[in-house]
Amino acid sequence: LDRPRALSGIQPTAGSFHLGNYLGAIRQYVALQETHDAFYTVVDLHAITVPQDPAELRANSRLAAAQLLASGLDPDRCTLFIQSHVPEHAQLGWVMNCLTGFGEASRMTQFKDKSARHGADRATVGLFTYPILQVADILLYQANHVPVGEDQRQHIELTRDLADRFNGRFGETFTVPEAYIVKETGKIYDLQDPTIKMSKSASTPKGIVSLLDEPKVSAKKIKSAVTDLETEIRYDEEKKPGVSNLLTIYSTLTGTAIPELERRYEGKGYGALKTELSEVLLEWVTPFRERTQEYLADPATLDGILAKGAEKARAVAAETLAAAYDKVGF
Ligand code: ADP
Ligand code: NA
Repeated sequence: LDRPRALSGIQPTAGSFHLGNYLGAIRQYVALQETHDAFYTVVDLHAITVPQDPAELRANSRLAAAQLLASGLDPDRCTLFIQSHVPEHAQLGWVMNCLTGFGEASRMTQFKDKSARHGADRATVGLFTYPILQVADILLYQANHVPVGEDQRQHIELTRDLADRFNGRFGETFTVPEAYIVKETGKIYDLQDPTIKMSKSASTPKGIVSLLDEPKVSAKKIKSAVTDLETEIRYDEEKKPGVSNLLTIYSTLTGTAIPELERRYEGKGYGALKTELSEVLLEWVTPFRERTQEYLADPATLDGILAKGAEKARAVAAETLAAAYDKVGF
């Protein structure tokens, strides 16, 4: 009955998750509950790498947890917790900081992108070292698989390097994890610029589908998605990135293979595809929004789930941290 372990973290900062988060990551969280001993964490320590209003942060962490539960996480089949409730993350994070080369950390492309966006002078040291805290998040649970989107691949590579380094220097301590990235949905693209990923920080409001938005608002965004000057509905990432992105979203939400969709839409225009995709999305987000509201309306249940999750997580994290501290000489 020894199942492989899965661990993933998601930031609470945007309020609503977006369609890229759901298709790229959260959907896999739900699936891996069945096959893995799965740990999922709302990473509020990561959130403060950029300034946060305290009350808003606290509310957004609970909102993130509510959305994860509404997406299908079942607290009886996985461990769901808030990162700051488990102090071992920060403790192992320090050890990992001391194992990482400055040049090595400087090569993380997400920092370059994000610090450019915030202005190099305003970027915090926390933002710089966040991938290293993420290493600790993963290694604490001896995770075998880390379900994430394509943008996280470099950070998982760093995690593997640091696990190997620690094990080599101090003796076998950590499982070396692997990224679990679903090829088809690892990168969902911005609706207005289908050459960049849909992202809470880089997308314009029209380019991003927020799961908690009014379905009418999302339908409008899908209907005004940028496509191309042809009329043919065909999957071609290179030549038709906009249409291909819509087909990926449609296919994943309905479980219909893309070639089947291409056949179904033969001779029909982009308008038909967009209208029907809006309906498909409506069918998914309507119950999702209702369930999220139900969890938020019952704070005692939500807090109970998160307290139990933190307790289960701590049992595992404390054991790993103790072993690591011992090896280091603490
Ligand atoms: P964002 O990139 O919008 O800031 P996060 O960094 O909080 O979102 O990402 C949370 C999870 O969602 C990560 O596993 C990330 O890889 C995944 N993810 C984010 N955007 C996308 C996207 N456009 N397509 C696929 N996965 C994504
Ligand atoms: Na990201």
